[in-house]
Amino acid sequence: MTRVAARLQPFGTTIFAEMTALANKHGAVNLAQGFPDFDGPEAAKAAAKAAIDAGEAQYARMSGVPKLNQAVAGAFAGRTGLAIDPDAHVTITSGCTEAIAATFLGLINPGDEVILFEPFYDSYRACVAMAGARPRFVTLRPGARVGGKGFGFDPDELRRAFTDKTRAILVNTPHNPTGKVFTRAELELIAGLCRDLNVMAITDEVYEHLTYDASKPHVSLASMPGMFDRTVTLSSVGKSFSLTGWKIGWAIAPPTLTAGVRAAHQFLTFATATPLQHGAAAIIANPGAAVREYVDLFRRNRDVLSSALRELGFRVYDAEGTYFIMADHTEVSRRLGVTGDRGLCAAMIEKYGVAAIPPSVFYENQEHGRSLVRFTYCKKAATIDEAIRRLERMRTA
Ligand SMILES: Cc1ncc(COP(=O)(O)O)c(C=O)c1O
Repeated sequence: MTRVAARLQPFGTTIFAEMTALANKHGAVNLAQGFPDFDGPEAAKAAAKAAIDAGEAQYARMSGVPKLNQAVAGAFAGRTGLAIDPDAHVTITSGCTEAIAATFLGLINPGDEVILFEPFYDSYRACVAMAGARPRFVTLRPGARVGGKGFGFDPDELRRAFTDKTRAILVNTPHNPTGKVFTRAELELIAGLCRDLNVMAITDEVYEHLTYDASKPHVSLASMPGMFDRTVTLSSVGKSFSLTGWKIGWAIAPPTLTAGVRAAHQFLTFATATPLQHGAAAIIANPGAAVREYVDLFRRNRDVLSSALRELGFRVYDAEGTYFIMADHTEVSRRLGVTGDRGLCAAMIEKYGVAAIPPSVFYENQEHGRSLVRFTYCKKAATIDEAIRRLERMRTA
């Protein structure tokens, strides 16, 4: 019997740690947890090493090393056309995970309602609970899209989720785990509701650079008319720059909302690793050069893995961004004689040596995710090819 506080008891151990431990135990190729199996940009590493050698060993400024605030502000301003003040609008955090926690703890009151799209990244649900707030869910379903195909939502379901207690809506685009990039039409709908009902938006944009189709670019909700003043935009270097272990993230928001983020950040971590902030600053100012190579690799991996999974009988949903694929496994599971997403993932690890994530944990009503499985393709081409070679053995099962 553990003594975990009641508000965190429902969440147990995160599925990523659980699946990675199981993958390691069975020597499986890990297409479960979203971390690349290759190093980040040399320029980042060189700048971090130089900062260590130069004695950058003490606490950074609470809101971030000025050079990094400037780089984050410049990159966001360049992409959105917004006027971003590095000192007043940008707060550097320990990864996007801390930025999410600081935003919830600093800006949401007990009893407030927060709208989440499900499936959701698992920390949102826990942070809503830590803030003493109540989640309301809007389900993303394949085929229910405003202005395109792929995962989408029912606009009426979204409208109904807003009540007089709604404090915020969290939008993660590009979206983990579906690979969906929210369309401009979908974001306009969300923005309209936020403006009309005076609701704050929190956007998680950690996959902002990882989109694969020029006709479906990433759009920041904060860049839509009237939205900057009510939006906290979160991101990090982890996913786009293959630096998940660095845990350098940020929150961009107007001063009224930045005050809340910093009120929590100062007591959560106060500041994050100084030399790594210098390292991150070296690549963020010119993200295109650093991420182009990764985007090309991930596009290739997505295409190869999607077609291999389709041939094995998975129903693969088109992924426009992130580095995840969601697939329906009903037919494959029937053939293998297993049930549910957990049954399939256990069998894949133990019998075929490939780990994936059972997505039911990303749903409030876990039944919605039982027929689905999530694969990541943020790996070297050789790793993806080896996973496919192993999965091919399912054909004869
Ligand atoms: C949607 C989403 N947000 C945030 C994070 C965590 O970001 P960081 O590693 O910067 O804390 C992840 C990591 O998987 C994620 O998928």
